[in-house]
Amino acid sequence: MPVLSQASIAFLQPRPGGAYVDCTVGAGGHARLILQRIGPHGRLLGIDRDETALEAARRLLAASTPAPVLRRGDFRDLVAIARAEGFDPAHGVLFDLGVSSLQLDDPERGFSFRGEGPLDMRMDRRGWLTADRVVNRMPERELAQLIRTLGQERWAARIARFIVDRRPLRTTRDLAEAVAAAIPRRAWPRDLHPATRTFQAIRMHVNDELPSLEEGLRGAVDILAGGGRLVVISFHSLEDGTVKRLFERESRTCVCPPGQPVCTCGHRPRLRVLTRRPLRPSPEEIASNPRSRSARLRAAERI
Ligand SMILES: C[S@@+](CC[C@H](N)C(=O)[O-])C[C@H]1O[C@@H](n2cnc3c(N)ncnc32)[C@H](O)[C@@H]1O
Repeated sequence: MPVLSQASIAFLQPRPGGAYVDCTVGAGGHARLILQRIGPHGRLLGIDRDETALEAARRLLAASTPAPVLRRGDFRDLVAIARAEGFDPAHGVLFDLGVSSLQLDDPERGFSFRGEGPLDMRMDRRGWLTADRVVNRMPERELAQLIRTLGQERWAARIARFIVDRRPLRTTRDLAEAVAAAIPRRAWPRDLHPATRTFQAIRMHVNDELPSLEEGLRGAVDILAGGGRLVVISFHSLEDGTVKRLFERESRTCVCPPGQPVCTCGHRPRLRVLTRRPLRPSPEEIASNPRSRSARLRAAERI
């Protein structure tokens, strides 16, 4: 079940004959909803850097009319991919960030602290950096810094020390146990597994997620046609902060340093923000799809 599906489609406004890009096609849930609305002359480009996700999307969308164009790639290369496939300009661009249930539920991918699997966490399995390298080779101080910043974890220093003391760690269970042992039980979060933040931090580092998102969002603004819609669903505050800052910058008339008496930047706004505050899923959606719990949606229109 795609997260925030109704709201994302309402903001994206897929129209018959339009050209749309789903930058995180995953298993194809959002893509299917778009395809149902763009008629036989509409076009959809679905991108994902995970080959397994693309296979799932291919299966789900096999009988769709029109047939989508599905490409393996990183959305940080959105402009190049969109140009190569004839999607510049596009009438709408969607990002549904983070990991998919397909990735989380397969222990072999190493994304989850539930079950046991190799320390992998790569979305694109051709990449050289794995969770194993991070967990077993990164110097303790760097590891602590990474867990603190990308995991927003206040026990980062202790967690890094426990990980280093237990090296070599072989599986996701070894990692989850090291983290759980490092955090005093009285400080375990009430509604989260104690290793959640550490796993998130390592995954974000392995996949270079925030820099990729920045580049992808800028690319989306570049390829959108006037009046085209940009919709982004994020799953934690670092992602949402990146989206919010880009929206703010792209919607301002002036980006001169504060206090400068006369504007000299010549900046032109390229976006009109449609969501003053991010949209959250309803309690009903959270109850039926717990993965949506931390989702936030922001949308903007290209000027
Ligand atoms: C939450 S899932 C998307 C689910 C999809 N909307 C659906 O309805 O099935 C996120 C997907 O984005 C992909 N992804 C994450 N970062 C990416 C990036 N930088 N470039 C391309 N795909 C990425 C992941 O591999 C994953 O399949």
